[in-house]
Amino acid sequence: MLCIAYLLLMTSSAPQALDIKPASGKLGVLTPGMGAVASTFIAGVLQARAEGKPPLGSVSQMAHIRLGSKEENRSPLIKDFAPLAGLDDIVFGGWDPISANALEAARTCGVLEERDLAPISSEMEGIVAMEAVFDQKWVSRLEGTRVKKIDNKWDQAMALMADIESFRTENGCDRLVMVWCGSTEAFQEASAVHETIAAFEQGLKDNDDNISPSQIYVYAALQSDVPFANGAPNLSTDLPCMIELSNTRGVPIAGKDFKTGQTLMKTLIAPGLKARMLGLRGWYSTNILGNRDGEVLDAPENFKTKEESKLGVLHTILQPDTYPDLYGNVDHVVRINYYPPRGDNKEGWDAIDIFGWMGYPMQIKIDFLCRDSILAAPIVLDLALFMDLAHRAGQSGVQEWLSFYLKAPQARGEADPEQDLFIQQTKLKNTLREWMGESPVTHSEAG
Ligand SMILES: NC(=O)c1ccc[n+]([C@@H]2O[C@H](COP(=O)([O-])OP(=O)(O)OC[C@H]3O[C@@H](n4cnc5c(N)ncnc54)[C@H](O)[C@@H]3O)[C@@H](O)[C@H]2O)c1
Repeated sequence: MLCIAYLLLMTSSAPQALDIKPASGKLGVLTPGMGAVASTFIAGVLQARAEGKPPLGSVSQMAHIRLGSKEENRSPLIKDFAPLAGLDDIVFGGWDPISANALEAARTCGVLEERDLAPISSEMEGIVAMEAVFDQKWVSRLEGTRVKKIDNKWDQAMALMADIESFRTENGCDRLVMVWCGSTEAFQEASAVHETIAAFEQGLKDNDDNISPSQIYVYAALQSDVPFANGAPNLSTDLPCMIELSNTRGVPIAGKDFKTGQTLMKTLIAPGLKARMLGLRGWYSTNILGNRDGEVLDAPENFKTKEESKLGVLHTILQPDTYPDLYGNVDHVVRINYYPPRGDNKEGWDAIDIFGWMGYPMQIKIDFLCRDSILAAPIVLDLALFMDLAHRAGQSGVQEWLSFYLKAPQARGEADPEQDLFIQQTKLKNTLREWMGESPVTHSEAG
């Protein structure tokens, strides 16, 4: 009798697999913005496809996922476990007000060497950027030339939707996803026009000043049933009207701001300090960056958008309200300086002042000579593939399980979003396990 009860308990605790539609046909990955990140992402996928090189840094392609107990020794690659679209099935597209195509974008930003671009140059050149919905008011340092000549914002949204449909038909795509790889827009707060879908649509028709180009892309994507992930700190997928729209249309959204470079380091180190109950007095972060992104962020109104996104991280990880003795008095400063000689090869310094037993101070210094787009490109791939999976799995609204990739993640409910990279990783993998009908791994078994 006991045995039957135990068996029933075990059966009922195993999650029911979701009914996920197969990843058949082509997946179109559209990037508003065809600059350093987008072109590096495209080039890496084309190279992996042509030469079979491993897509380094991509969790969806390279990470294994443990299933069941440790003794079972079941640990497939994520891409073999979850029904993700294959790299061969991806078609690329996008919009840009400056770059004509992916090859020109890659050569201009100078991230990749000619020896990597030459073998894929004709394919890259064939990925032509569509004319953008762009307004210099939001990105003062850029002069857009390849811009739709349409003044009314509602008409701009309709034009983007027409672009999406032509891309879908011309490329024979079964499904599409959109990942924002465009510039960081000037700082703004949400306003009345962002409250509801109806208010936003009226605002589009009235050319409301508070509606930015990136918001028009999100609206067009969701109305076209295209999942949207926001790689910049812009206010877009995190607006009430967009959350409402994603839920009513049954389309996933995720945001915001790719977690690369300095913030990646922060979300690696801060959870470790907290796990060992070491105190933090201050964290000073400064960067030099010489690419177009750095130039855009040199404008104070655009830097403020980025600063807000970067500053939130420590507070949520360290929970100063719960740990006032350790984290109640932290000076957190973030600076970005535009320094052209470095190009895309950012250098980020962190001076971290910590304290331990009996209050004695200690210091940590980090000098991270990273390559921004090299860190961001695999995130674009993973977000695109996982957002497509979520859509086929019938998910809509905020995809909190993808916080792993994002600097200022959106939460589904009222609670603060999780910022600790390792908790985010667990959530990502457990979500995949549950969707596929496997039990979550809690590491609670003894031994
Ligand atoms: N590289 C990283 O590590 C990283 C990390 C986090 C966030 N980001 C964000 O990702 C975005 C892309 O970064 P990047 O290094 O490729 O910058 P980039 O300047 O090289 O590329 C951005 C492109 O967006 C285009 N653009 C601007 N407004 C647009 C619009 N309305 N529609 C379509 N295109 C538009 C620009 O012309 C430019 O070509 C930036 O917002 C950046 O802040 C990058």
